[in-house]
Amino acid sequence: MGAIAFRPLAGYIGARVEGVALSETVDDDLAATLRTALFEHLILVFPEQYLDLARQKEVTEIFGPLRPVPYIEPMAGEPQVIAVLKKAEERNVGVFGGEWHSDFSFLKAPPAGSVLSAVEIPPYGGDTLWASQIAAYESLPTGLKDLIEGRDAVHTGAPYGVKHAPPQEARSGASIKMVRGDPAADRETFHPAVRTHPESGRKALFVNPIYTTRLDGLSEADSRPILERLFRHATRPDITCRHRWSAGDLVVWDNRTTLHYALNDYDGVRRLLYRTTFGDREPAHA
Ligand code: SIN
Repeated sequence: MGAIAFRPLAGYIGARVEGVALSETVDDDLAATLRTALFEHLILVFPEQYLDLARQKEVTEIFGPLRPVPYIEPMAGEPQVIAVLKKAEERNVGVFGGEWHSDFSFLKAPPAGSVLSAVEIPPYGGDTLWASQIAAYESLPTGLKDLIEGRDAVHTGAPYGVKHAPPQEARSGASIKMVRGDPAADRETFHPAVRTHPESGRKALFVNPIYTTRLDGLSEADSRPILERLFRHATRPDITCRHRWSAGDLVVWDNRTTLHYALNDYDGVRRLLYRTTFGDREPAHA
């Protein structure tokens, strides 16, 4: 492998990592370099890695402790892994992650980051987008910033699949199974609408269209127009990057400072990635 290089994918977010074979031993210095690069670029793309599940879990632990997934049925025998699968015969169904979100933001201590490893990728479509919530925060109009700075936003997992996916009967073939009635998902959780990254100290907007239902102290109806403005601002194309997957790619992202979106434009073709998540600190106010 050549020298390590981080090639930016877009102006505000994302880097492609060259010169790293994650199948080989990652020593402490390299691990520290990768963690620092993640805080700087927010998402890292490692092409052509082809890791098995055991190695994906070890690589995930470079960035933080692996954690089990709530609310979604994990892979059999692998409580820390979600198979993100859409089968060729699943047409006109929602896909997992098919709306802008930060993973499990409804938990009291949402994951610090996530890892996706690409196994089967359609010949076209199925890209993933990420948006920098540091850039979103830094470019917020003053009026909006004043409205949310120091305020909590309310998150709940319960609406997923109600607001953003087709009715249950239309999803009977969907490969991702939500566990209904999970208390970790169904209660209201309060997080700062602007949070401070514990490692980089940078401030980021922390609301998302799937799980954020209202602002603390306001009803859902009164929150709605403010949240709609925040969501539009948080997902402007200018602050995003987009990854066109190839089998073997491994992507790591910081859930505290990004939103992501899985494009659902590949009906009739199978797509499979394995997802792990890491870290679990409660978000801090800015
Ligand atoms: C997700 O983790 O939200 C899924 C992303 C994807 O399938 O591209």
